[in-house]
Amino acid sequence: MKLPKRVTMCEVGTRDGFQIEPDWIPTELKIEVVDRLSATGMPRIEVTSFVSPKAIPALRDAEAVMAGIKRRPGTRYSALVPNDKGAVRAVDAGVDDIHTVVSASESHNLANVNMTIAESLAKLEATAQVAHRAGKPVYSGISCTFGCPFEGDVPLSQLESVVRRLVDLGAKGIGLADTTGMANPAQVSRVLEHLAPRFPNTEWTLHTHDTRAMAIPNILAAMEMGVSHLDASIGGLGGCPFAPGASGNVCTEDLVHCLDAMGIDTGIDLDALIETSRRVQEIVGRVLPGQIVKAGKWTRRYPLPDGVRERIPARA
Ligand code: COA
Ligand code: ZN
Repeated sequence: MKLPKRVTMCEVGTRDGFQIEPDWIPTELKIEVVDRLSATGMPRIEVTSFVSPKAIPALRDAEAVMAGIKRRPGTRYSALVPNDKGAVRAVDAGVDDIHTVVSASESHNLANVNMTIAESLAKLEATAQVAHRAGKPVYSGISCTFGCPFEGDVPLSQLESVVRRLVDLGAKGIGLADTTGMANPAQVSRVLEHLAPRFPNTEWTLHTHDTRAMAIPNILAAMEMGVSHLDASIGGLGGCPFAPGASGNVCTEDLVHCLDAMGIDTGIDLDALIETSRRVQEIVGRVLPGQIVKAGKWTRRYPLPDGVRERIPARA
């Protein structure tokens, strides 16, 4: 396999994950999770979102979370915004980077942000102006890149035109988001083969949901196409409340474990990440989808059953 030697992870659990949690997570616990994540060496954290509190009540404490976290040098803190109002709030709250959201599908965009794609892009133009005036880089995520739970296929030409507009607005990076886990590895490869040469200065991120157990295969396909920026959620939290059938993101510690096992550097302390995942399970009060928390790392060994050691033939 031809894979990048280094990958930059962006943890999105406190945004993509906490936005869909049914029970209120107290602000100080959100802050604790962000601080534990940064302490693992996580290079990027999408802390929260500055959206309408009516749309996402679970993240209505975005300002307080941003104000309460410890800023670790080496971690960049971002937040998701759908419009310029969100960008003003995010800048005032002191984010390092602005992450924007628009969908490649008209139906999902209307369901998610109550705007057509054209209306969203107009808001994102105003958003870019706010960000650029404040000197904040913009990274633009595109929901339903690989398919929409309402419309099905999203034509590549439509995706390309959304990417074009976002790049023209000055996006430093584009996040290709598989919002409801509809992508497959061959498709991820095809989409990147089409887009990457057309936008040579763009940093690509793959944002996956493991709804159909294809997140890691999709990530490997993207990495083979040169993608080295990946979003993931601690424990496998996550999901868009406005996309039916949505479920958790690829689990951060499972993905970092997979990358570690392949010798790919993330700069993250996997043991600290696993501990953080255990703490997040405690906070949300249920067992999360992550596998490594349950199985342990691949280096885990068990004691031999009685009487076996003596019967193992000597190696030639
Ligand atoms: N932050 C806080 N409040 C906001 C806001 C923002 N970024 N953007 C708009 N609002 C407020 C408006 O001021 C207005 O408040 P009021 O009712 O007190 O006057 C209210 O929200 C409605 O504003 P309007 O512009 O009419 O928006 P809307 O009701 O059509 O909703 C969005 C549009 C984009 C604000 C809303 O759909 C949203 O926040 N969606 C986010 C969805 C999301 O996060 N999905 C998951 C992540 S992919
Ligand atoms: Zn997502």
